[in-house]
Amino acid sequence: MTAIDYDIQPRQDGRHAQTEAAATGDLESLRPLPRISIHAFCMSEPILRVMEKCGQDRRMAKVSLRITNGNVSAAANMFSSSPTPNLIILETDAEPANLMEELSPLAEVCDPSTRVIIIGRYNDIPLYRALIRNGISEYMVAPVSMADVLGAVAAIFVDPEAEPLGRTVAFIGAKGGVGSSTISHNCAFSISSLFSTETILADLDLPYGTANIDFDQDPAQGMAEAVFSPDRLDEVFLDRLLTTCSQNLSLLAAPSLLDRAYDFDRMAFHPVMELLQRSAPVTVLDVPHVWSDWTRSVLSDADEVVITCAPDLANLRNAKNMLDALKKLRPNDKTPHFILNQVGMPKRPEIAPNDFFEPLEVDPVAIIPFDVQLFGNAANSGRMISEIDAKSPTAEIFSQIAHLVTGRVRLKKEKKGGLGKMLSLLGRKK
Ligand SMILES: Nc1ncnc2c1ncn2[C@@H]1O[C@H](COP(=O)(O)OP(=O)(O)OP(=O)(O)O)[C@@H](O)[C@H]1O
Ligand SMILES: [Mg+2]
Repeated sequence: MTAIDYDIQPRQDGRHAQTEAAATGDLESLRPLPRISIHAFCMSEPILRVMEKCGQDRRMAKVSLRITNGNVSAAANMFSSSPTPNLIILETDAEPANLMEELSPLAEVCDPSTRVIIIGRYNDIPLYRALIRNGISEYMVAPVSMADVLGAVAAIFVDPEAEPLGRTVAFIGAKGGVGSSTISHNCAFSISSLFSTETILADLDLPYGTANIDFDQDPAQGMAEAVFSPDRLDEVFLDRLLTTCSQNLSLLAAPSLLDRAYDFDRMAFHPVMELLQRSAPVTVLDVPHVWSDWTRSVLSDADEVVITCAPDLANLRNAKNMLDALKKLRPNDKTPHFILNQVGMPKRPEIAPNDFFEPLEVDPVAIIPFDVQLFGNAANSGRMISEIDAKSPTAEIFSQIAHLVTGRVRLKKEKKGGLGKMLSLLGRKK
């Protein structure tokens, strides 16, 4: 089948397109959808038109929507070589008895975090139950309206009862200047570009933050306004504070000014973190090397914590203390990930990686060599390492960290949920 492919990117102008009158009253009460990516595979003209209409709706203004004229195998083909989006919408004419079989090749290549809505032809309750049990988020029977589709997407991503959409990953250094910010910026960039997933990089180092410099941006005081005006915080206000760094990466930048003191209450960053989690699938937090009530609170709440260390004794002592403290603060969460950075600096006596991690009783997730030329060039030109040298081993390390902290698996590895869950159930039946 020849594929007509549309890319409908988030509108930057904030103006609402003229949409036809809402099909149902429910549509009026729907909140705007967050910054998710959706790929719809349509087999029939009516569903194609409905998806196009969805793409023009104001509630989809921040969604990156792609529409392909194709069936489930077209989807499986496409995602065998490219990452899956946050949501796949599939139209199918498969009979109930064959649908699971038809979905199986897609399940093999679908990331567990990707949600799936199926639009089928058969009103069949056992089929519906089987699909939901196997990790499909919704099964709808054609014909469907724009309101039906938007309602189904909102039920997954906007419903206040639903799990917050976004995963937060906090990066902090075991000591000042160890490269924690540089690593967090590169990882945020890798997450957004490798998985085409909307990512927000939030710079919490208000006086000295470098995300603005590293991405060659001169934005307004995004983070300062967000944290000092919690009452004004909503999706519209947040949109004004974000700066676009690349296609899927937005920055909530620090002012990096010393015109005031930055003392924060323990919960100061909670409203903005909560809003960020509802706005994009991934938020990367660049946390300064400070141990205070507010940083402890931010680190306690993040889904993943990454501690960057340099190979010396002070870093080792601090890393051990941070590890112990964070285990107490997050007793039921994952232990932090450790990165050893700036390894092999000429003439510097260093603690060898094995000796560094043995007392910590953890394995590092990455060991990054000291490479003054690569990092210096990147910092001075306002670009990321993978933009400067995509094939460098360091760029590959950032890609690995990006996979790890977002729970993304490399293709063909074991899956835990979504379509992957279905695959494992199908496998068990065989
Ligand atoms: N592996 C590396 N090789 C060479 N230079 C590096 C490496 N990693 C980071 N750098 C450089 O080290 C410097 C400090 O990095 P960065 O600002 O990211 O550290 P930080 O831990 O966030 O510091 P701060 O405590 O000031 O927040 C930067 O100039 C950066 O380019
Ligand atoms: Mg920093």
